[in-house]
Amino acid sequence: MDVDYGPLTGLIGNWTGDKGMDISPDPEGIEENPYYETIEFRAAGDLKNYESQHLAIVSYHQVVKRKSNDEVFHDQVGYWLWDAGSQAVMQTLTIPRGVCVTAGGGALGSRPVVLGVRAKLGDADWGIAQSPFMRDNASTVAFEHRLTIDGDTLLYVETTTLEIYGRRFEHTDQNALMRS
Ligand code: HEM
Repeated sequence: MDVDYGPLTGLIGNWTGDKGMDISPDPEGIEENPYYETIEFRAAGDLKNYESQHLAIVSYHQVVKRKSNDEVFHDQVGYWLWDAGSQAVMQTLTIPRGVCVTAGGGALGSRPVVLGVRAKLGDADWGIAQSPFMRDNASTVAFEHRLTIDGDTLLYVETTTLEIYGRRFEHTDQNALMRS
């Protein structure tokens, strides 16, 4: 039987966008990095957890380049998961700094579809795991991601709250992408 990807259906495909803006921490203050990127979302089938939780799976790979030098400065892989039984959406992701996030939330609407997930360090339900070095020096304490899919347009806004350089910092990323 065909897999029903529910509110994740519209993600599947290859996307590109060149209107990205990254606000990230710097020892002296903030860095602002205009960027462009590709995100490939792949229909990855379905599975059952504990014989009962049925998940539809979309895997993705995001590659982000700085406009100023065309170098990759963020690479992320993960999954979006749809649990039709509880109408829940999850995003599990990892970045190559030694940080993993298991974020949970839901979906709203049909056109556009809005996906929203969040996680917090220490949260019993939706948490963050990171290496000891990152925990001690550049800790990710919260993550929020809202994604709006309208046909061939995809917008996202992502806030990663960090504790770094002796302060709390809202590291934000946003972009508008088109299906390619
Ligand atoms: C489009 C998405 C993102 C971009 C473009 C981006 C880019 C950046 C940049 C430029 C820095 C400053 C340090 C450096 O130059 O390497 C940084 C720091 C950091 N980012 Fe991101 N980031 C993104 C998403 C994320 C996500 C989703 C997470 C975690 C869930 C994350 C976690 C961190 C952490 C922990 C640091 C502090 C590392 C340090 O400076 O020591 N970032 N990011």
